[in-house]
Amino acid sequence: MSTPQSIITRKTSSSVFLVLTINDGGEGTVRDALAELPDLSSAVGSRAPEAALAAIVGIGSAAWDRLYSGPRPRSLRPFTELVGGKHTAPATPGDLLIHIKADRMDLCYEVGQRLTQRLGAAVTTVDEVHGFRYFDLRDLIGFVDGTENPVGQDAVDAITVGDEDPDFAGGSYVVIQRYVTDFADWEALSVEDQEKAIGRTKLENIEMADDVKPANSHIALNVITDDDGNEIDILRDNMPYGDISGSGEKGTFYIAYSSGPDVSEQMLRNMFIGEPEGNYDRLLDFTTAVTGGQFFVPTSDFLSDPPEAPDPAELGATAADSEPAPRSDGSLGIGSLR
Ligand code: HEM
Repeated sequence: MSTPQSIITRKTSSSVFLVLTINDGGEGTVRDALAELPDLSSAVGSRAPEAALAAIVGIGSAAWDRLYSGPRPRSLRPFTELVGGKHTAPATPGDLLIHIKADRMDLCYEVGQRLTQRLGAAVTTVDEVHGFRYFDLRDLIGFVDGTENPVGQDAVDAITVGDEDPDFAGGSYVVIQRYVTDFADWEALSVEDQEKAIGRTKLENIEMADDVKPANSHIALNVITDDDGNEIDILRDNMPYGDISGSGEKGTFYIAYSSGPDVSEQMLRNMFIGEPEGNYDRLLDFTTAVTGGQFFVPTSDFLSDPPEAPDPAELGATAADSEPAPRSDGSLGIGSLR
């Protein structure tokens, strides 16, 4: 199997998330810049090895066909909008996801700015989020996030494509959503009610017993099991982000890697539509998804030595067919971005 990108690192204290669209005619530059990313990341990371720098790139469904000829990852498809009775998970534009993480923001910045300089006019940034560690790995809502993540070989198994898609073995799928939290409403809840929304205690981070945990708690809706009753894991790397003053947006940047999109999609259906339908995730009454995207993360070897570019005559149809349609008001549909 070829070398995966460095998704599995210890939890770092800083992240940068860039969501980009590829401009018409920018495909060649993007291919070249992505091929150089593993070396760029190693070069910057070598100046502070203790900071565990990693730069991971994911490629969206429509963008894949614009960048690479040959087979495509078997389960790569666009993020699907989910409209529940009360809450919606929107699908928003994004051809590339760049996830940079390290214990030092300067390293994330250095990789991000060198990469975007190299990409130049070939791309448009639709979302840029700088995430930070908040105390003992808490979200801004005050709960520890990431506790139930798989570790060691379980983490590798949870996120790695295997023999089911041999051309892309070693790759992963990734889902992102940026959430904006209403802290006035959240903080108006008692700690006990906050704990019921999550399904864990706030201070000690202990999971509630099954007979106490509400059916609409975040935890109850996000434990997915296979036919034998074994839990199916994904690997989350969420980060808090936000403006401090005024009415600036703040909340959680949700990001989760998996070996296929089915489990993440099931979790999202449980949260937004509800399981059973109508029993939606109580957390959503306080935090709103404003973006949504799904990407494939090829191996490092694939990125550095990609297949031929597609025949330009065949470009066009696929991109328009499979990405979310632009909104009629000309907005990107991401908060206040136009
Ligand atoms: C604002 C957004 C979100 C916040 C603040 C949040 C927060 C949390 C917290 C505090 C936990 C408990 C500790 C832990 O195991 O990590 C948790 C667990 C979890 N969350 Fe989220 N989460 C968010 C969005 C999502 C989304 C969108 C998904 C899936 C589509 C998801 C999937 C999970 C899973 C699978 C668990 C572990 C369940 C278990 O095995 O106990 N989360 N989340």
